[in-house]
Amino acid sequence: MSEKHAPMPGAESLAEPLRDRWSISVYDDQHTLSGEQVETLLHAAQWSPSAGNRQPWAFFVAQRGTPAHKALVEYLSRGNSRWVPRASAVFITAAQIAPDPEGEGPTEPAYSFYDLGQAAAHLTIQAHSMGLRVHQFNGFDTGALAEELGVPAWWRVMSGIAVGVHGDPAEVSERDAEREQRVRRRKPLRDIARGDTWAEPWDGLSTEL
Ligand SMILES: Cc1cc2nc3c(=O)[nH]c(=O)nc-3n(C[C@H](O)[C@H](O)[C@H](O)COP(=O)(O)O)c2cc1C
Repeated sequence: MSEKHAPMPGAESLAEPLRDRWSISVYDDQHTLSGEQVETLLHAAQWSPSAGNRQPWAFFVAQRGTPAHKALVEYLSRGNSRWVPRASAVFITAAQIAPDPEGEGPTEPAYSFYDLGQAAAHLTIQAHSMGLRVHQFNGFDTGALAEELGVPAWWRVMSGIAVGVHGDPAEVSERDAEREQRVRRRKPLRDIARGDTWAEPWDGLSTEL
């Protein structure tokens, strides 16, 4: 497997599997996830931190060939429809955005989104530590898919987490294979690290990266 996109400059000191993570776009379309692997990934999300320990998230397990997977594929954006269907499974994520009819649940959704993102990150990193590869995406008609899958109005479908193993770039179009060669870029730390006020960058940086 090519890991030429990692580690990136500045990422050498990160813990595995943060160091070697990147979003692949060529999946092996013959690979399947075992039930045990799926459960482990769900456990990773389950044990992520959550505001008030409310855990306002849910995941459809859409393994390739299942009805949920077929429904998702129908609603993918054109770009995503070229690579997502080859992944072994997609975890379709949803966040609770309002109270349920019994009045249980968040009155505003901000921390549901925060918590779901964190749960997705935990699932992603767990997958990488298991030798799996992950690419998250939101380029699909989330509203149409939510309706088709029977998602209640007080939940919102947010994203997909494609999971599988790296495939052979020769099996996909040149254009899709090239996607994986794109240079990965990040904002420099000076743009994200603040010091004593918003206007002051943190002065402890030793790197331009
Ligand atoms: C919420 C979210 C939505 C994304 N949507 C898409 C998408 O629709 N299509 C896609 O190809 N990549 C998508 N990505 C992947 C990002 O483009 C990718 O993570 C980013 O370019 C950084 O690359 P890296 O993950 O390899 O570090 C998404 C990522 C996140 C977290």
